[in-house]
Amino acid sequence: MASFKSSSSTITTFKFHLGAFLLLVGVASAQLASNFYGTSCPSVLSVIKSAVNSAVSNDARMGASLLRLHFHDCFGCDASVLLDGGEKTAPANANSLRGFEVIDSIKTQLESSCPGVVSCADILSVAARDSVVAKGLLHSDQQLFSGGSTDAQLGGPTWAVQLGRKDSTTASRDEANNDLPSPFMDLPALINNFKRQGLNERDLVALSGGHTLGSAQCFTFRNRTHNDANIDPKFAKQRKSTCPLVGGDSNLAPLDPTPARFDVAYFNSLVKKRGLLHSDQALFNGGSTDGLVKAYSSNAKAFWADFAKSMVKMGNIKILTGKQGQVRLNCRKVN
Ligand code: HEM
Ligand SMILES: *[C@@H]1O[C@H](CO)[C@@H](O)[C@H](O)[C@H]1NC(C)=O
Repeated sequence: MASFKSSSSTITTFKFHLGAFLLLVGVASAQLASNFYGTSCPSVLSVIKSAVNSAVSNDARMGASLLRLHFHDCFGCDASVLLDGGEKTAPANANSLRGFEVIDSIKTQLESSCPGVVSCADILSVAARDSVVAKGLLHSDQQLFSGGSTDAQLGGPTWAVQLGRKDSTTASRDEANNDLPSPFMDLPALINNFKRQGLNERDLVALSGGHTLGSAQCFTFRNRTHNDANIDPKFAKQRKSTCPLVGGDSNLAPLDPTPARFDVAYFNSLVKKRGLLHSDQALFNGGSTDGLVKAYSSNAKAFWADFAKSMVKMGNIKILTGKQGQVRLNCRKVN
């Protein structure tokens, strides 16, 4: 299935395939459409794109942070993660999620051009896509996609984000805790966690590829680097040097060797037993997902295509549409 939005001539094909796909998996998303704001807020995509590009050029890590924010929202894509005092304060998120100010600034701009129209959940989903595209795709990576075409303004391949989500009117701190996967999980637990959201093993591996961007704090990988057996000793030594058994909890290490590039280095690292999180290495540890990790490690095109497809799927989890929910005027507060 073609998952990249490329030229207008292929958009129809894309929609047909996407429609057939969503019908197949039974996701209730009939109301989402890539042109949802076509008449109500025609500037929405360009406003978000330039805000993301400028945020990323100020802070190379911001693309990673925005992608992760969408993921954490999306085990229920209703912008509940943005509400002050809710999920944000849960252990998996507090002092860990970043990028709220970027979303606020996009929201402020959109409220001045199209008041009360664009939901915070949709802003997050577009910002996540633009973050991936903004994160320094190599020229050679782009050539891999010469079969499709590239978005001239973004300079990289991209996909059509489906829009029309509404924002929640509540945030549950407990729900955030229960639903998100933990970095200490083994493969069966990860598979189950994703399955509960309607995501299969292929989605799990492709989406975990989001760890080609960004960094993690020492406390999330300490036990792996100090105690796991399935780790390259040289890599373990290197990581332990800034993540001792005691102290340095918030010291950062990159999730893959090229944390500002959306490449296949993450999967290459797993094959070499250099996954940073226990849950990363679990994807290549003699289990059912080994083959896919191996395949992605040498095929950026396949990774990209599957990542895009799985991002669209993830963007449909527990959404609110139509008369459900609201369009928040301030992403941090219920109207
Ligand atoms: C498979 C289960 C997953 C687990 C257990 C997991 C866990 C984690 C952990 C523990 C961190 C570091 C947080 C910190 O140190 O504060 C992290 C960072 C990150 N995660 Fe995941 N994650 C998973 C899936 C995903 C998915 C599906 C995506 C996106 C598609 C994603 C994108 C990211 C990004 C981009 C970062 C870096 C953020 C930054 O540098 O600000 N993760 N993840
Ligand atoms: C720490 O790692 C060891 C070795 O892999 C494992 O047996 C143990 O369960 C881990 N502890 C936690 C809290 O994950």
